[in-house]
Amino acid sequence: MYAFKTPTVRNSELTAPYMHHGIYSDLKEVLQFYQKGGGEGFKYSVPNQTLPFDSLQLSNSEQEDIILFLKSLTDTAGLVQRPFKLPSFELSPDLNSRTWGGKY
Ligand code: HEM
Repeated sequence: MYAFKTPTVRNSELTAPYMHHGIYSDLKEVLQFYQKGGGEGFKYSVPNQTLPFDSLQLSNSEQEDIILFLKSLTDTAGLVQRPFKLPSFELSPDLNSRTWGGKY
């Protein structure tokens, strides 16, 4: 019960809203969720919660540091790809053999 696959935090700066139901719209709110002890900390009954149920006792500046750390994991380099071929034209097949690159 209440088991989730732990999501990646890579690019989490770019992937709001957060959690399985999108309840939080920014990372500060996510930090406050953990800071307060997760579901148990909010007085929900969550048998098997593996998160600490009491306060993490992080200062504001420590929370900000964690958010900066999460943001340091933003990396979109792998999301941009060089196309493998130029667009093709159904009505002008002679154009479809043109190659990309080269010199003028
Ligand atoms: C301060 C420490 C932590 C930070 C900064 C953090 C960060 C995050 C973030 C940003 C998300 C949202 C991911 C998304 O929706 O794309 C998330 C979700 C989650 N994290 Fe953490 N996490 C922390 C501690 C933990 C710990 C200790 C556990 C496990 C014991 C854990 C397990 C999970 C799970 C299961 C979710 C998904 C929850 C859901 O979908 O409702 N996290 N965490």
